[in-house]
Amino acid sequence: MPVSGGKDFLAEPPLALTGAGADFGAVDAEEAWIAVIRKMDEAYAELVRQQVELEAKNAALEEAQGFIAGLLGSMTDVLVACDLSGRVEQVNLAAERAFGQLAEGLVGRPLADLIDASSPTTAADVLATMGMRQRIADREFTLATTDGPLPVAVNGAVRFDPRGRAVGIVLVGRPIGELRAAYHELAQAHEHLKRTQQQLVHSEKMASLGRLVAGVAHELNNPISFVYGNAHALKRYAERLIAYLDQVHGGANGPALAKARGDLRIDRALSDIPATLSGMLEGAERVRDIVADLRRFSSDRREAREVFDLAGVVRSAVDWVAKSQMPDLAILVDVPEGLEAVGHPGHIHQVMMNLVQNAVDALEGRPERRLEITGARLDGPGAPRVVVRVRDSGPGIPEDILGRVFDPFFTTKPVGKGTGLGLSICYRIVEEHEGRLEATNHPDGGAVFSLILPAGRP
Ligand SMILES: Nc1ncnc2c1ncn2[C@@H]1O[C@H](COP(=O)(O)OP(=O)(O)O)[C@@H](O)[C@H]1O
Ligand SMILES: [Mg+2]
Repeated sequence: MPVSGGKDFLAEPPLALTGAGADFGAVDAEEAWIAVIRKMDEAYAELVRQQVELEAKNAALEEAQGFIAGLLGSMTDVLVACDLSGRVEQVNLAAERAFGQLAEGLVGRPLADLIDASSPTTAADVLATMGMRQRIADREFTLATTDGPLPVAVNGAVRFDPRGRAVGIVLVGRPIGELRAAYHELAQAHEHLKRTQQQLVHSEKMASLGRLVAGVAHELNNPISFVYGNAHALKRYAERLIAYLDQVHGGANGPALAKARGDLRIDRALSDIPATLSGMLEGAERVRDIVADLRRFSSDRREAREVFDLAGVVRSAVDWVAKSQMPDLAILVDVPEGLEAVGHPGHIHQVMMNLVQNAVDALEGRPERRLEITGARLDGPGAPRVVVRVRDSGPGIPEDILGRVFDPFFTTKPVGKGTGLGLSICYRIVEEHEGRLEATNHPDGGAVFSLILPAGRP
């Protein structure tokens, strides 16, 4: 087999080979020589290829390491990697800064060394959680740093090798000192606000309860004094009748009896008794009606909706709120009997009481005090509706706050007088009735609130 002339380094066989292959013929020796050279050539090429590959891998590895180091270095969160026994294997720059020590001072130490005695979560907790292959999610730790205890929120996970075996733990912590302080303050402020609001809601409830009681007491006062006065008269009549009957039973005769009858004014008593009794009855009935209204309108029970008479609701609300607080108020109620709405009469009564109360508030200190409440059916397309309008002769609602009067806690009244909840409660109630509550000002002055509700029977 001819040898290519290009490879002149093959012209002289190496000495060792010459020696070892001394017995071969010249041609055989040359062929063997060529085969060896070729093998060497191949081996060398393979070596070069592997070297290049290795270098490429090395470069990739270095790049990856650089990338990871860069990541770890630029992380603002504290990173600590441990083995399964809790011995620290690696930390990042943020950890060095947080602990106030270089990596050399941290690596190799047990995790427990890095956690402060006051920590809500301990190294043992971490190892136990990791032992169960569970994650640590947002747990609070206190790190032991050279600057003292440092609270951090920690997330942690088990580290696995490429074959899926657990090899260690990675913990990442974020200092929560400032964040927590800010959060704490916020939570406290929120808590405070909630409490204040609850107190306000409570005082609004107490205030309307107080108004209700005052109004009802005022309302009851009339018929009760009526009953009381008549009962007194009846008692006197009864005393005179008994005295007269005593004489009759004692056997008093003609002229003596006639004298007693005159002295005791028996005829007058007898003629007055029916009127006195019916007066009492009337008063008792009025009391009964007021108590029935009170039951009906003050109950907070959510019964099924019913068709109810608006005139009764309006009358009672006006009686209870306005009459007791503002005896000189000129009240005009024009709500036709039989104007019916669908809903909870008690809740609508509460709305009416609030609207009347606001009108009374607006009229305080005004020279002319008028309250006008009108009711009507609303004609138009869609489901039949009714409207009740409450108008007062107060100053009206300034345009710039007209859009806010239904907001919870919006009030222009001094502390202790208004809670700003009345209208927002009304609004919610009316919304639940699929109705509408609107605030406007009358062209001739004063506020007008329109309560629109689904109508009952036509
Ligand atoms: N009839 C009215 N006339 C003028 N302003 C009113 C009237 N009704 C309500 N307002 C305004 O709406 C605000 C909110 O009313 P409301 O929710 O009942 O709370 P509050 O009565 O406790 O202030 C009142 O503070 C007042 O400024
Ligand atoms: Mg109010």
